[in-house]
Amino acid sequence: MSKVEIGIRFASLFGAACFVLGLHFMNSPATARRGNQLSAFGMLVAVVAVLIGVGDSQGAAHMNATRWGVLLAGTLIGGAYGLYSARTVQMTNMPQLVSLFNAVGGGAAALIAVTEYHLDPHVLAGTATATVLDIVIGGVTFSGSVLAAAKLQGYLSKPVSFAGSRLASGVVALAAVGGGVWIVAGAHNQLVLLGVVIAAVLFGVLMVLPIGGADMPVVISLLNAFTGTAVAMAGFVLGNVILVIAGALVGASGGILTKLMASAMNRSVLNIIAGGFGTGAVGTAAVEGAGGPVKSIAVDDAALQMAYASKVIIVPGYGLAAAQAQHECRELGEVLEARGVEVSYAIHPVAGRMPGHMNVLLAEANVPYDQLKEMDEINSEFDRADVALVVGANDVTNPAARRPGNAVSGMPILDVDHAKSIIVVKRSMASGYAGIDNELYTDPKTSMFFTDAKKGLASLVTATKTLVG
Ligand code: TAP
Repeated sequence: MSKVEIGIRFASLFGAACFVLGLHFMNSPATARRGNQLSAFGMLVAVVAVLIGVGDSQGAAHMNATRWGVLLAGTLIGGAYGLYSARTVQMTNMPQLVSLFNAVGGGAAALIAVTEYHLDPHVLAGTATATVLDIVIGGVTFSGSVLAAAKLQGYLSKPVSFAGSRLASGVVALAAVGGGVWIVAGAHNQLVLLGVVIAAVLFGVLMVLPIGGADMPVVISLLNAFTGTAVAMAGFVLGNVILVIAGALVGASGGILTKLMASAMNRSVLNIIAGGFGTGAVGTAAVEGAGGPVKSIAVDDAALQMAYASKVIIVPGYGLAAAQAQHECRELGEVLEARGVEVSYAIHPVAGRMPGHMNVLLAEANVPYDQLKEMDEINSEFDRADVALVVGANDVTNPAARRPGNAVSGMPILDVDHAKSIIVVKRSMASGYAGIDNELYTDPKTSMFFTDAKKGLASLVTATKTLVG
């Protein structure tokens, strides 16, 4: 082994160690930023090591000016675009960006296997299974993630299902598996490969089309796990250890997140893959029990209720993120606490548009971690709360989830309706992501404070200070 090769292996090991340590640092919001930086540095080391390997004597035999041009242009353009989009993306558009990153990760991994097979379908003996898994999982991830990004962006907000969609999913899944088995068994045929690619891409589309409403978080984390798995398979195809390690880490952590999301949503992962839910009662915007008079409240009354409460639970949701009202939210909490009110924040696992969205948002505003309470912990406390202040949260508070037959059925919710009094800060009676009415708003205990969350919370802070000193 040449000195360069030994150096490259050490660089790979170093990169892998950075990924593992980086992931460890992400255990806490306080060290997460450092974890991200360390992982990015590990990735930079790995990419440079690969480039050196390509330029080294063995790799250089396969290179010419055009290939170098393509490789460097791809690295520079991709890297620059990745950096630009990650720095400029609005917090509210982050889930779409993550979905697109999943799509390019899965697509690139699949293309590696397709290229290797295309170059020489006969050298596959040891890597045939990894090649097929890479193509199938990468293909599903690519199309599924592009579609998920479009849905999150609102281009395709309604779940789409058609008669025979499950049968169609079954047929394409069978085609992908059948073609894959044929390739592993030794079919050196590019047409079979093409068939597997098409079947995998179609399956991704059919898998995500019927998902909607409150069920998107589970499918997004599942696609994230798929991306990692496809990348690990690409590592086996190329004999590249760092790809195997990086892919395995993403695949495993994505898998754990999927399990957590599925449990939080009371859903089965297998059902998602089979397109088994997300379609229930779609389009039924009106929910039984949601009609009825709605009471609105003025800022001074809302401020007085909270200032004289002994316990207030703040329930943040997507609207808080959209309005970027986290700082005003923290300030209101502080003003109330200064008056001796006990303040906590109720965090639903799928509030917002990405896992941990509310934790990240409130941590950014320096809300103390011990005031953030997960759903299981806080639900028993709503009975004792004088006021539940719902800020831009909708689906995660909808009591309709406790009944079958609607788009949020079965999803565990924050028991906001158990509080003695409820104040909801949002701009209108518009529905949330799941597209259904929220019967919490017509609960006799509920008062609606119709306003943008940022303006509303700022005015509540001022009113509380002015009215009660
Ligand atoms: P949603 O149900 O989406 O409701 C958000 C509410 O915020 C809307 O009803 C909207 O009402 C209000 N809003 C928007 N902009 C606002 C502003 N500037 N000021 C005040 N209010 C504003 O949010 P949620 O309760 O957090 O639930 C999340 C939903 O997204 C769930 O269905 C979940 O399954 C889904 N989802 C979650 C994820 C992850 S991983 N968290 C990913 C994809 C989808 P107005 O327009 O009337 O103001």
